[in-house]
Amino acid sequence: MSRSDWTPKIWAVQQRASADWRAQRAEEALPARAESATVLKNQDFSAFVDFLKRSCGFDFTGYKPTSLMRRVNKRMQEVGVESLSAYQDYLEGHSEEPARLFNTILINVTAFFRDSLAWNYLTDEVLPHIIAGKPADQPIRVWSVGCASGEEAYTLAILLAEALGIEQLQQRVKIYATDRDEQTLHQARRATYSAADLKPVPAQFRERYFQQVGNRYVVCSELRHSVIFGRHDLICDAPLSHLDLLVCRNTLMYFNAETQKKALVHFRFALNNRGFLFLGKAEALPLHSNPFTPQALGFHSYGKVPTPNIRDQALVLAQRVNTGAAPFRRRTHLRDAALDAMPGAQVVVDPTGVLLLTDKQACTLFGPKLKDVDRPSPDDAFFHWPVPLHSLIEQVVSKCDSIPLHNVKWTVPSGGTRYFDMLIVPLLEGEGLVGAGINFTDVTRFKMLQGRLLHFGQKLQAANQELQSANEQLRTASAALQTTSEALQATNKELQSTNAALETMHEGLLGTNETLLGFNTELHVRTDGLNTANAFLESILTGLHSAVVVVDPTLSIRAWNRRAEDLWGVRAEEVQGQCFLTLDIGLPVEHLEGPLRTVLTWEPAHLEVVLGATNRRGRALRCRVTCTALRDAQQEIQGAIMLMEEEKEAL
Ligand SMILES: C[S@@+](CC[C@H](N)C(=O)[O-])C[C@H]1O[C@@H](n2cnc3c(N)ncnc32)[C@H](O)[C@@H]1O
Repeated sequence: MSRSDWTPKIWAVQQRASADWRAQRAEEALPARAESATVLKNQDFSAFVDFLKRSCGFDFTGYKPTSLMRRVNKRMQEVGVESLSAYQDYLEGHSEEPARLFNTILINVTAFFRDSLAWNYLTDEVLPHIIAGKPADQPIRVWSVGCASGEEAYTLAILLAEALGIEQLQQRVKIYATDRDEQTLHQARRATYSAADLKPVPAQFRERYFQQVGNRYVVCSELRHSVIFGRHDLICDAPLSHLDLLVCRNTLMYFNAETQKKALVHFRFALNNRGFLFLGKAEALPLHSNPFTPQALGFHSYGKVPTPNIRDQALVLAQRVNTGAAPFRRRTHLRDAALDAMPGAQVVVDPTGVLLLTDKQACTLFGPKLKDVDRPSPDDAFFHWPVPLHSLIEQVVSKCDSIPLHNVKWTVPSGGTRYFDMLIVPLLEGEGLVGAGINFTDVTRFKMLQGRLLHFGQKLQAANQELQSANEQLRTASAALQTTSEALQATNKELQSTNAALETMHEGLLGTNETLLGFNTELHVRTDGLNTANAFLESILTGLHSAVVVVDPTLSIRAWNRRAEDLWGVRAEEVQGQCFLTLDIGLPVEHLEGPLRTVLTWEPAHLEVVLGATNRRGRALRCRVTCTALRDAQQEIQGAIMLMEEEKEAL
């Protein structure tokens, strides 16, 4: 686009095969089914539209009647009435019905990045021009007309934030977003959307410009502050002004031609001289007499219809009556040369469809016979074109309006397939119509390129998605590894400190072990000493001819020698530990309690008692018992020793 060629621009996307296009057609087709059920008459219907204006305050006179009828019909079916008059009664009797009808008519279908190719174009081509064409301190003003629930306005805000940065967006950009429907504006102002609504939003934008609140997503405040929502009726309210970009998508198509023209006049007023108008792909504007110039190859573009050179037509007519005139011949040659030099094949027909003019490319395309321009057209090979040319010419002539056709597929008789863009324009001379011009532009190359572009785009998207999911997996794996590594490190630290504690404990145990070994050795030595002492004592006690009994301070028996066994007939192991005073032997032990307790209390060194007794064989005897205190090294009394001897003299 040359910088000198700045006039308001208009374009719409031509991607009829795209899913979005199909969805839109399906949405349009839905009410069409209803039409078959109840056929509304035009006359009745315009009376009904008057009734709506009078009784409900809704003016739908500027809307396309067919589309309006479909929606009214749909609503009638939903409430179960069959005639318009019955529906009028229903509207009057049900206070909520006018609002429901209003909602059905003003289809609020919308989406973020709806028709993504068009938004790509806006991003790559239009926004850079707008930004480059304005000094950095100048505001950028945008208007989203028919903004519905706000997705379109926020899409614009995202793209401008990406192009300018969020700070510049806040300082410079004002996006006015208007709609006729208050209810949908209320939704737009809330700026809260579901996960499904956000699906078309590229992931990086979702992260950057939305905040998750529960299971909903809210547009970030920086974007929200740059968008101003307001109620505005495109048909009857005054337009805004000084705009750099005016976006009116999928809204004009609901209006009739007259209202569309009025809207375009408003748009022209609203836009500044370098401004852009961005329409939906389904919006077909009249090609001539609209105040905009087309924009962008690959997009369905509209512009001022190039006025056909009617002088050429006059030339042809003049040639028929005056073939000898040299100036006419020269001009005829000039005309032929000019036609041949024009891109594409050109054909001119008169208002009845008779061929008047063809150029070289047309003859190459349709065969040399086409040169024979005076023959009636319907029999000509040219009219076996895949679209009904004859009726199209009739349409152009009767409505005095252009018809563009795109990507017309033609199976070439010699083999192969080619695609053509066609433009059929009425040819006017003064006020009168003198014929129609048809231009055929071979767009096979673009069509192929478009197909390949789409194919590569899809492949790129698939590759991108794969990359994203691989990336996601890597990130997850990396996070898991990091967690495991952290857990291992923690375990390792714990093990190290446990190990240190164990080592300390081990050293302590080694020390204790050594001490115990020392004790053990000493114990062995002492035990040996004790054993030796015991053996020594044992041998002394055994060697004695007297019976010896040793008791502790409680009078419990500690020693009982061999002679005591002989004398009293009780073995040492039978009396060990027993209280001496409880023994049942031939000696009256109870008489010894006094002497024993006396020696045990540190009084005399020893006491002697002679008692009558009976030995183990039953022989009576006199027994001398000497009680002596048993002292330890510190002279403490540890018990008593009783020495028992038989006195020799008989009793
Ligand atoms: C199909 S939606 C288009 C939404 C959005 N522009 C898009 O392309 O996704 C059409 C919108 O136009 C609005 N509309 C219909 N008639 C209008 C009028 N006369 N003035 C302003 N808005 C109107 C409807 O309320 C609706 O929200």
